[in-house]
Amino acid sequence: MNALAEQVRKYGLATAPGLVQGSALAELHREAEQLVGQFTGHGYRSDDYWSFERADAREQVLYRIHNLEQQGSTPINELFADGPLHELAGEVLGREIRPMVCAMIVKMPHHAARVPWHRDRTSVAPHTVINLSLFLDDSSFENGCIEYVPYSHLLPDDADVTAVEQQGPVEAAPARAGDVLVHDVRTVHASRTNSTDAFRRSIVIEFAPVDFDLPNT
Ligand code: NI
Repeated sequence: MNALAEQVRKYGLATAPGLVQGSALAELHREAEQLVGQFTGHGYRSDDYWSFERADAREQVLYRIHNLEQQGSTPINELFADGPLHELAGEVLGREIRPMVCAMIVKMPHHAARVPWHRDRTSVAPHTVINLSLFLDDSSFENGCIEYVPYSHLLPDDADVTAVEQQGPVEAAPARAGDVLVHDVRTVHASRTNSTDAFRRSIVIEFAPVDFDLPNT
């Protein structure tokens, strides 16, 4: 097993630095700008574009583009179909995998909400289903990087997420554009608001073993 796979198994989260670079990263970045720009600049609305209303009711704040692989963007479709994230997911799980869900997480400058402490799924055993987050922008404490509780993927399904977070330790997982953050779907995690002037965007793909039927949540 490689070092990254071992870290994911042990801590529930690990980072593969600089997995996507150069023109491949630039193309994805451009597509992300275009998809987000449809919403923020051109009034595009769809059930796949998840948003909430700002407290002053002046604007809808986009936070997720769901079914991202269905939004008609070639570089994103290709990333979902095959490539470096698939290879990494296969290495981490040590078996043949398939992509299940693809989304873009968008933290709008200043108005992004915090994501409360949660686990993506608990209906599956540890080391079975993982989420890979490809960062399109640098992610720091200031713009709401992922925070998590190491080893929490190993806790029982009914563990009290709030108690787990309060007991800690809580670790921040900052990332650079092009890094891929891998986490077990059972890992307890959260992220804060974005207090900066810049977007913080990531593409998240969930991977499961090819022969695995994912239970509905
Ligand atoms: Ni999550």
